[in-house]
Amino acid sequence: MSFTPHDERFMAAAIRLSRWHLGRTATNPSVGCLIVKDGVIVGRAVTALGGRPHAETQALSEAGALARGATAYVTLEPCSHHGKTPPCAEALIAYGVARIVISVTDPDPRVSGRGIARLREASIEVDAGVLEAEGRQSLAAYLTRQTKNRPYVTLKLAVSADGMIGRQGAGQVAITGPEARAQVQALRAETDAILVGIGTAIADDPLLTVRSPGLESQSPIRIVLDPSLALPLTSRLVGTAREVPVIVVTSEEGSLSQAEGDIASTEMESRRAALEAAGVEVVHCNPYHPEVLLPALATRGISSLLVEGGAKTARLFLEAGLVDRIQLYQAPVMIGEGGIESPLDATDIPSGFAHTGTLMFGGDRLDEYERGL
Ligand SMILES: NC(=O)c1ccc[n+]([C@@H]2O[C@H](COP(=O)([O-])OP(=O)(O)OC[C@H]3O[C@@H](n4cnc5c(N)ncnc54)[C@H](OP(=O)(O)O)[C@@H]3O)[C@@H](O)[C@H]2O)c1
Repeated sequence: MSFTPHDERFMAAAIRLSRWHLGRTATNPSVGCLIVKDGVIVGRAVTALGGRPHAETQALSEAGALARGATAYVTLEPCSHHGKTPPCAEALIAYGVARIVISVTDPDPRVSGRGIARLREASIEVDAGVLEAEGRQSLAAYLTRQTKNRPYVTLKLAVSADGMIGRQGAGQVAITGPEARAQVQALRAETDAILVGIGTAIADDPLLTVRSPGLESQSPIRIVLDPSLALPLTSRLVGTAREVPVIVVTSEEGSLSQAEGDIASTEMESRRAALEAAGVEVVHCNPYHPEVLLPALATRGISSLLVEGGAKTARLFLEAGLVDRIQLYQAPVMIGEGGIESPLDATDIPSGFAHTGTLMFGGDRLDEYERGL
C-alpha cells in the first residue's frame, strides 16, 4: 500500500481536528474527517459533542455536491452498522466519494473490517493505515476501552529537583509554575475521569476541576480511593460534588469492618450516608485492586483516566502494570526536609515505556513516556 505525501498531510490535519473533542464525545471516539476535492478541503468535521453526529456525515453535508469524486480522510474506519445513527459507510457511498483514506481500523466487532468491505463492495477505493501510529495515539482512550476493557491510564507527577512530590504535613506544595499548571488543566479537560488517593485528598484538599477560561464546563469526574470513607465532609471535593461528580471508591461491602480495623461498620454506614447526602457517589470496589476497578470504570463509559497521585497510589498503579502513559514534570524547586519521595524519576521509568517527547513550560520540564497500545 502506498500513500502520497498529500495523504499524510491531509490525514495529519484530520488527526489534529479529531483532538478538538477528546474527552467530550461520551463513549464514542472523537474522529476527524476531511473531504478533499482536487487538493482543496471542501468539508471537515470532528465527532460532535456527546458523540453524535459522527464526523463523516457532518463533513459530507458541508461538502454537499462537491463530495462526488472526492477523497475522504477519516481517522477511524467508518461504521457500517445501524446504531443510533445510520452507517457512515452508506453516507460516503450515497454522496459519491471516490476514495477513502483511513488511519486506524476499528476494533469494535460490529465495525472491524466491515466498514472497509462495504465501501469496497461499492467500488470505492479504500486505503487504510496512513499515519497509523499517530491515529492510534489520538484514539488511545477509545482503543484501550475497546480492546482491554479498561480506560487509558495517564499517570501525571510533578517532581522537585531533589526528587520529592510534596512535604509531609504541608498540604499542597507548589512544585511547578503557572505554565505547567495550565497545561495540566488542558490535560484534565480532555480526560473522562481523574483519580487520587485519600492521602492526597486529605493533605491537599484539591478541587481537581478545570478552571482555565473557556474550559470550565469540561471538568472530569473526580474519583478518590478511600478504603475507610475518611474523605472529610468539609473538603472542597465534597463541597462541590453537586456541580462536578465525585465518586468515592471504598472497600467492598461485607469487608468493611476488616478494612477499617477498629471502626465499626455502623460508623462506616453513617459516613457513607453523610457523603451520599452531600451528593457523593459511594462505590464499593476494592480500591487496592485497580485491575478490578478499571474495568468497572470502563463499564460506566470512562475511557480515559488521569491518575494524579499521591505517591502510594501512583506506585500501586505502576506495580499493577496499569499505566499507559507517564507525564513527568521536573521542576527546579527544592523541597528539602520532610519531603515525600517520588515513586519514580526520569532514571527509573519502568521497562516497556518509550520516551516520546520533552517540552518546556516556563522553567519546568515535561517528559512523556508511553507504552504501546
Ligand atoms: N507532586 C505531585 O505530582 C503530587 C500529586 C498528588 C499528590 N502529591 C502529594 O502526595 C502526598 C500524598 O501521597 P500519599 O502517598 O500519602 O497518598 P495517596 O497516594 O494520595 O493516598 C494513599 C492512601 O490512599 C489509600 N489507598 C486506597 N486505595 C489505594 C491504592 N489503590 N493505592 C494506594 N493507596 C490507596 C491508602 O489508605 P490506607 O493507608 O488506609 O491503606 C493510602 O494510605 C501529599 O503530600 C500530596 O501533596 C503530590
